[in-house]
Amino acid sequence: MPRHLLNPMDFSVEELDKLMDLAGDIERNPDKYAHACDRKTLATCFYEPSTRTRLSFEGAMYHLGGHVIGFASADSSSASKGESVSDTIRIISCYADICAMRHPKEGAPLVASLKSRIPVINAGDGGHQHPTQTLTDLLTIRSLKGHLDNITIGLCGDLKFGRTVHSLIEALSRYENVRFVLISPPELRVPGYITEMLDHKNLQYREMQNLEEAIPTLDILYMTRVQRERFFNEDDYIRMKDFYILTKEKMKLAREDMLVLHPLPRVNEISVEVDDDPRAVYFRQAQYGMYIRMALILTLLGLEVQ
Ligand code: CP
Repeated sequence: MPRHLLNPMDFSVEELDKLMDLAGDIERNPDKYAHACDRKTLATCFYEPSTRTRLSFEGAMYHLGGHVIGFASADSSSASKGESVSDTIRIISCYADICAMRHPKEGAPLVASLKSRIPVINAGDGGHQHPTQTLTDLLTIRSLKGHLDNITIGLCGDLKFGRTVHSLIEALSRYENVRFVLISPPELRVPGYITEMLDHKNLQYREMQNLEEAIPTLDILYMTRVQRERFFNEDDYIRMKDFYILTKEKMKLAREDMLVLHPLPRVNEISVEVDDDPRAVYFRQAQYGMYIRMALILTLLGLEVQ
């Protein structure tokens, strides 16, 4: 049976450590891995728009010497004629060795995995999970802070629909002494299953609205965009969209070593003037995304490079 990545919890902490070690080795020694996926094919099946996730997966496979096939929207696939995800993955299993799938419906990659003969990677399913973004976030924090335990992380913005937030909280909940500050308007609080999980594990978290009040206490500030595509009502989106804007002035309240992460795309929630601040690491974060996806492809295909 192929191994899939559907949820960040599918990998143990030890396996995540190994994956991040491998990503680090790939970054330092790219030539060593340049033919690791010769004659292997990745299918990117994206039923929803993407820049970073799809292109970093495709870049990852090319850098490993492999091939890429796929589609970038449901409209350009037979989903537009009514084909099910289950049927599509059975077909993709005939053409490719591994598949990265993004879908607007929560659980679609899981459904695909049940019929798949090849590893399926959840590249984002609705407002649910985005495990490879989480791998990217963990690698960024570990690389730039040196550790994943003993941190206070503030997650700010759309915590309700932001799937990257859900995956990251779950993943970090397994490390020692991580404190969560959940900063959102009341309408965009994290779903109940996340706070229930934090309560169940007896982890430290606070829910608050005021970013300025939270910022001085943080080691990491994880900004998110308001997920327009998940709102039922445009007026609600317009009311919420500029609730938080991180500016140079607000950065003055932060510690000198606080890091600002953002899964991107950014809309308005981080002012472009913050980009030049050395603590703003969201573009480096996107670069780490390719290395960790290279490591993930090798791991799920069971390929070792000596
Ligand atoms: N972070 C992220 O998932 O970006 P894309 O939607 O561009 O893939």
